[in-house]
Amino acid sequence: MSRRFFIKLLLSLGLGAYFPKLVEAARLEKLHQPQDGYKPLTQVKFLRQVITKDSRTSRVIMWQCDKELPDVKIEYELIGGDGAHFCAADFEIVEQDDATVYIYSCTLKNLKPESLYRFRIISNDAAISWQNLRTAGYGNFQMLIFSDSQCVNYEVWQNIADTAVKNFPDAELVTVIGDLVDNGQAAYQWRAWHLAAAQVLSERIFAPVMGNHECYDLNWLNCLPEGYIHQFNLPSNGIKNFGGYFYSFDYGAAHFFILNTQFWELDTFKPQLRYLQNAWFRRDAANTNRRWKIVFMHKDIYDYATGSFNDIAENFMPLFDELGIDVVFTGHLHTYRNRGKIFEQKKSPHGTLYILCGRSGDQKYVEKNSPIDDVTAPNLNTEPESYITLDVSAESLSLTCRTADGQIFDRFILKK
Ligand SMILES: [Fe+2]
Ligand SMILES: [Fe+2]
Repeated sequence: MSRRFFIKLLLSLGLGAYFPKLVEAARLEKLHQPQDGYKPLTQVKFLRQVITKDSRTSRVIMWQCDKELPDVKIEYELIGGDGAHFCAADFEIVEQDDATVYIYSCTLKNLKPESLYRFRIISNDAAISWQNLRTAGYGNFQMLIFSDSQCVNYEVWQNIADTAVKNFPDAELVTVIGDLVDNGQAAYQWRAWHLAAAQVLSERIFAPVMGNHECYDLNWLNCLPEGYIHQFNLPSNGIKNFGGYFYSFDYGAAHFFILNTQFWELDTFKPQLRYLQNAWFRRDAANTNRRWKIVFMHKDIYDYATGSFNDIAENFMPLFDELGIDVVFTGHLHTYRNRGKIFEQKKSPHGTLYILCGRSGDQKYVEKNSPIDDVTAPNLNTEPESYITLDVSAESLSLTCRTADGQIFDRFILKK
């Protein structure tokens, strides 16, 4: 049975709403531990800290409930600071294929850079347990890069996400380079994805990237990525009707551009996407003075079947050359490759570094070997899930690609 048919069958039988309650309760047990005389606020699920323009001073906190919470607010305090602060939360009611969910969002502002806070959600006499929140600083930091976490069985995504957090507990920032879920409009896919991501997202900052699978409806036809857009309250790009489609942010010594590659999927709905994004990209790049310029975008630049650069490359590579982008991370092909530096579509010591991220979910694709790649996973037919750690300092970008069981595929250092 194909996975597409499996998802349709599940939904047609009304089984999309089924989720093992005991599994969910066990996974969220730490979040729901009673503290300080409050009852556990068990309605709160899928807590995530979401990126803002400047993570030194602000943070978006989001979560989901099945019902509206009475008198809900966030209590937060600087560790060793001047006591409690409170922030009201907004919510939107989102109709999903088999459920109505309440997605809450609260933006904490005027935080102190490079500091440790704790926060919790309170509703009347109930609260979640305290969660850590670390504001960004000016210096070195580490991040975790995953891609294509889409699954039939989300235990695979959970395993690699939990493994990465266990091995790199100090990583502050996390991304998934698109195709977070297999079908972006299937509610149970988001529930399963979030539950698996519970550890990695509750106390780190998430900066997501939209992929083509976020732009499919339940019949696998192209559609607007409503499921994705509702999940994450992302920094504004200032362009009406394109909020959440592409954005940028600063973190430490780096400026990150999160670009959208779904021109084909969104052509009917957003025909101006390419033009508006290209213009925004130029403007945004001109306004940053950070030392490193890093791009995350879902679709890759290369077509292994024909052995040539593709239409995504035609659009973006001249811009990357023009704007002096240091490194581009892509996904979509579910295999890890390091191409080294490329300028004007040729290998060059002065070009942009191109990294194609492997998959973090259970959907295995096999692409050919190619001379464009300096590093390729050792056995393409059995290539397992992998993730990347990226250490950013003013002097260097240092990346390592590892499998869930610790095998190292690649180590690479870029210096300025
Ligand atoms: Fe994918
Ligand atoms: Fe994809």
